[in-house]
Amino acid sequence: MKQSSFYSNYKIGAKIGSGSFGRIFSATNPLTGEQVAIKIESKEAKNPQLVHEYELYKILLKNNPEPEGIPRIHLCTTQSDYVNLVMELLGPSLEDKFNLCGRKFSLKTVLMLAFQMLARLEYIHNCGLIHRDIKPENFLLGVGKNQDKVYIIDFGLSRPYLKDGKHIEFIVGKKLIGTARYASINTHRGITQSRRDDLESVGYIWIYFLKGKLPWQGLKATERTQRYDKIKEKKIETSIAELCQDLPPEFAEYLTYVRNLNFEEEPDYARLQTLLRTLFNEKGFVEDFDYDWKSIKPDPVTKPADTKRIFKEVRVDGENAMLTKEETKQNNQSTKPLVQKASNVPIKNTGSNQKNNHKSKACWPLFNCFS
Ligand SMILES: Nc1ncnc2c1ncn2[C@@H]1O[C@H](COP(=O)(O)OP(=O)(O)OP(=O)(O)O)[C@@H](O)[C@H]1O
Ligand SMILES: [Mg+2]
Repeated sequence: MKQSSFYSNYKIGAKIGSGSFGRIFSATNPLTGEQVAIKIESKEAKNPQLVHEYELYKILLKNNPEPEGIPRIHLCTTQSDYVNLVMELLGPSLEDKFNLCGRKFSLKTVLMLAFQMLARLEYIHNCGLIHRDIKPENFLLGVGKNQDKVYIIDFGLSRPYLKDGKHIEFIVGKKLIGTARYASINTHRGITQSRRDDLESVGYIWIYFLKGKLPWQGLKATERTQRYDKIKEKKIETSIAELCQDLPPEFAEYLTYVRNLNFEEEPDYARLQTLLRTLFNEKGFVEDFDYDWKSIKPDPVTKPADTKRIFKEVRVDGENAMLTKEETKQNNQSTKPLVQKASNVPIKNTGSNQKNNHKSKACWPLFNCFS
C-alpha cells in the first residue's frame, strides 16, 4: 500500500488509551466520516507485538467476518517509524464503568456482563487461541447501537493452544504472563496456559466486580517479584469458599469447575452459561441491559476521552500491571528472554516473527499491508 498516504487518510483525534506498550488514538476518515481507533506502536519497540496482534485478529475474523464482540479490523500498516492498527472505535472499558459506579457492580450487571464475557472466550477458544491477559481493561463496551455489547480486545499476549490440530505441550517453569491480579493459580505456578486459565481469570473478574476487591490486592513488597509471590501465596491459601463468601453459590461452583479442568480439557461452556443463566432467572432478573451505569448521570462538562484518561490515571495498583514476559517461540524450540524496559512497565513478547498462515487476499481485502 502507499504508506505516505496513511496519516493524510485519517484525521487523528484524541488519545483514548495507552497500554503497556502502545497508544490508541481516535481518528476520522474525512471522506467517509467513519470514526476509528488507531493503535500505534513504535517500530523501535523492544518487544513489538502489534503485528502479532493483527495476525491473531485475522485468525479470529477468518471464518466469520463479524463475530459478536470482536472489533472489526480495517487496516494494519507501517508508516515511517510506526506500526498502525486501524480498528473499530469502541467505548469505555469495564474497569472505567466499574470506577464510574463506585467500584461495585450489582449481581444483575455482573451476570449480564458474564454471559457475554464467557461467550467471547468460547469464541476465541473455538478459533484455536487463548487470550492470556483477561482483565477488565481488556473488555470494552461498544458505541452507539452497540453500547450494551461487550467486546474483547488486546490480543498482544494471545497464543494458539492448538498447533496442527494438536494441543500445545504442558510445560512447567514458564514466567508469569498476563496480569497478576487475575492470573490463574497454575499460571502463577509456571504452567503453560490453556483454555482453563482464561476461564479462571474471568471468574476472578466477576468476584472483583461483586465484592469490589480481591483478597490478594494491595499486598506490600519491595520487589515486584516478591509482590507476585505474595499474590500467588494468597491466591493459593484463600479457599474458594472464602473467596466466594456471601456470593451466590454458583460462583464457587464455577471456580471449582474451572480449577479442576485438565490442561487440555475442553471446557463445557454451555454448562457454565446455564449455571449463570439459571441464577439470573431464579433472581427474577430480565436481560434488559439496564447496567448499573445506566442510572448514573454523565457529567455534562467531561468529554468521553477525558473521562477515560482520568480513569486510567487512578489505575495504579501494581499487581494490575502486566508482567515481564518470557516466551517460547512459536515452534517451542528456544526460549527468548526479554529485556525489561522500566520497573513498572509491562513488557510483551509477541513472537511477531510468526508465519502468517491466513494470508488469503480473498478473505482479507482490507488487510493489505503484509501482502
Ligand atoms: N478500539 C478501541 N476503541 C476505543 N478504545 C480502545 C480501543 N482499543 C484500545 N482502547 C483503549 O486503550 C486501552 C489500551 O489498549 P490495549 O489494551 O489494546 O493496549 P495495550 O498496550 O495492549 O494495553 P495493556 O497491555 O496495558 O493491556 C484499552 O484499555 C482501552 O481503554
Ligand atoms: Mg490492554
